[in-house]
Amino acid sequence: MSPQPQAAVGAPLSRVDGRLKVTGKAVYAAEHDIEGAVHAVLVDASIGRGRITSLDTAAAEKAAGVLRVISHRNAPKLPYRDNAGSNNPPGHRLRVFQDDRVLFHGQPVAVVVATTLEAAQHGASLVEVRYDGEQPSTDLTEAEPGEPANYARGDAEAGLRSAAVRLDLTYQLARNHHNPMEPHATVARWDGNKLTVWDKTQWVMGTRDELSAVFGLPAESVRVINPFVGGGFGSGLRCWPHTVVAALAARETGRPAMLVLSRRQMYFGTGFRPSYAYRLRLGSDRRGRLNAAIHDMDAETSSYETFVEATGAPGQMLYSMPNVSQAYRQVPLDVNTPIWMRGPGFATGSFVIESAMDELAHELGIDPIELRLRNEPDEDPSNDLPFSTRRLRECYTVGAREFGWHRRSPRPRGRREGDWLIGMGMAAGVYHSGSNAAEARVRLDADGTALVETAASDMGPGTYTSQTQVAADALGLTVRSVTFRLGDSLYPPTPPHGGSQTMASVGSAVLDGCDKVRRQAVKLAVEDRGSPLYGVAADDVVVRNGRLHVPGNPARGETYKSLLARNNRSHLEVRGSYGGPSRPGRHSISAYNATFAEVAVDATLGLVRVRRMLGVYDAGRVISPKLADSQAIGGMVGGIGQALLEHTVTDHRDGRIVNANLADYLVPVNADVPDVEAIYLNGEDHEADPLGVKGLGEVVLVGVAPAIANAVFNATGRRIRELPITAEALL
Ligand code: MOS
Repeated sequence: MSPQPQAAVGAPLSRVDGRLKVTGKAVYAAEHDIEGAVHAVLVDASIGRGRITSLDTAAAEKAAGVLRVISHRNAPKLPYRDNAGSNNPPGHRLRVFQDDRVLFHGQPVAVVVATTLEAAQHGASLVEVRYDGEQPSTDLTEAEPGEPANYARGDAEAGLRSAAVRLDLTYQLARNHHNPMEPHATVARWDGNKLTVWDKTQWVMGTRDELSAVFGLPAESVRVINPFVGGGFGSGLRCWPHTVVAALAARETGRPAMLVLSRRQMYFGTGFRPSYAYRLRLGSDRRGRLNAAIHDMDAETSSYETFVEATGAPGQMLYSMPNVSQAYRQVPLDVNTPIWMRGPGFATGSFVIESAMDELAHELGIDPIELRLRNEPDEDPSNDLPFSTRRLRECYTVGAREFGWHRRSPRPRGRREGDWLIGMGMAAGVYHSGSNAAEARVRLDADGTALVETAASDMGPGTYTSQTQVAADALGLTVRSVTFRLGDSLYPPTPPHGGSQTMASVGSAVLDGCDKVRRQAVKLAVEDRGSPLYGVAADDVVVRNGRLHVPGNPARGETYKSLLARNNRSHLEVRGSYGGPSRPGRHSISAYNATFAEVAVDATLGLVRVRRMLGVYDAGRVISPKLADSQAIGGMVGGIGQALLEHTVTDHRDGRIVNANLADYLVPVNADVPDVEAIYLNGEDHEADPLGVKGLGEVVLVGVAPAIANAVFNATGRRIRELPITAEALL
């Protein structure tokens, strides 16, 4: 069989939607200009726990432009059917305006709907709420944890006792918020019993199912649309209460309603990366061979839902070690429910493990890379499965060479330039490769162009572009001849746009659909007496630039256009599908990286500047190198944030988030970001999925914070086991 020529996949294309984005023509959730839309503004609770004793809406209702004030006093009872899907964690989701209880500071207690945004904002300021407040519990280190989820292999206690070298380390990791540029927003419109929402979401199907459960509608009665998403990092992975409020406001007023969360409201209106208290005990022999690890993880969750993430995973499989035990305890607090944030769980767990490995290396006088190599497993120690591909050794070698690791002083405080202490650090990163069932509709039109549709999202990684590349090669068309549409729940279903699974899942469905359409066309040609390809073996035919031919004999062939015209076909259409991993449980499949950082720390002021970073990635096949670079840079920037800046601060007296704005919640800006470079060990993983990709979006953040923390230690001799690493901690 002649393979399809690959022209688009692997090419460093610019975004196919780039022009729309930079000319302002890409339409984000709140920019949908829906005729007759009114504005909804939330009133949020100013206590951290308790009950609403009175809610006076008289002044608001009299204000100019205000149409309606909705609260638990007048809201209809909503069905809130059970919905185990839609990424709802176990528990009871927040039911907006269904009772007088306040579960966290900032919870929506009323919504003001008005003809203009200003009128709605003014109205919201006039609503008088009185509370019977209780002391909220928001401090992870003070609260009572729930029952642990345990993991064990071997005998970790005994292993630790017998270890020649033992470390007992305690880490504190701050809560982080996603802070995408585009705020969360929803426009909702009812047409009779049918609901359409334009919503910032990473999963139109999940939001559709949740709204249908909340309002008691058949799924077909709800349509969710999101052609563009201005960043997400996980904040759009479930349907949050404000989306329900927007739909409720529209239903109660009989007008389409728009609700945009303010930046402040984003801090309690959507989820966050939970804070952790993490104790790790680690034992090894004198040559650095790991023997045992005991992990005690306490993570915050809300009082009403139990959010779980894969924080334990890296500690189970990153290094060869016979004895591991883990206890992962959720600590219910009076906060809103957390959610996955880029590199979820793995970024947290890897910070701890990779910081500890650096401590162990220092303790034993072994180079940190050498220590990791001595503990590199031959198969996945958590399940004894062979790795599909694991090129972590190569990540270390290539990274060390390209970064100039030999220039690192093994002695902390070994390098100084004026006031600056210079240090280098590295860490390994891992993120499991997942994929799920997805479908795609592919239509080849008589004019020789194609249309591909899926319900996927593009929160920024470049789904539009990379999927177009896959489709173009499979169809044998140029990228320009393919239109890729996403972001509509009426399109064929896809899994959440998260967990690094979009390329593997949606891409495989697109590949399947495009392969099928191309084969249909080839079959049509070889069986058509009027075709120059009549009688040729179908397997010998390839398509390039829309022309069907046999390789080596380009003269004999014809275009899709002429083929379809002669056969009186307006189009060919199929539904492509991907059923999920074909051989689940046969291999351990993950993406890996080695991340290197060089920092300068002001010896007097404790100021940390990252000077340069390098990430080397084993993420399988790279579909779109330019977009992959953007992903890696973004991941490293996010990791700089996690390491040095990001920290959601709660006032435990009343549960208020005190830095709920982008002036006080610090994220890296240009001056914080030095030269960052990414190298890919490009290569297909044949076990992962038909495209051979292992996912990139998450792994690029994993390992960044520990690489920086380890560089800070190398520079200063100070080991900071708290994120973010602040100047105060270094003084
Ligand atoms: Mo990613 S945390 O699944 O958006």
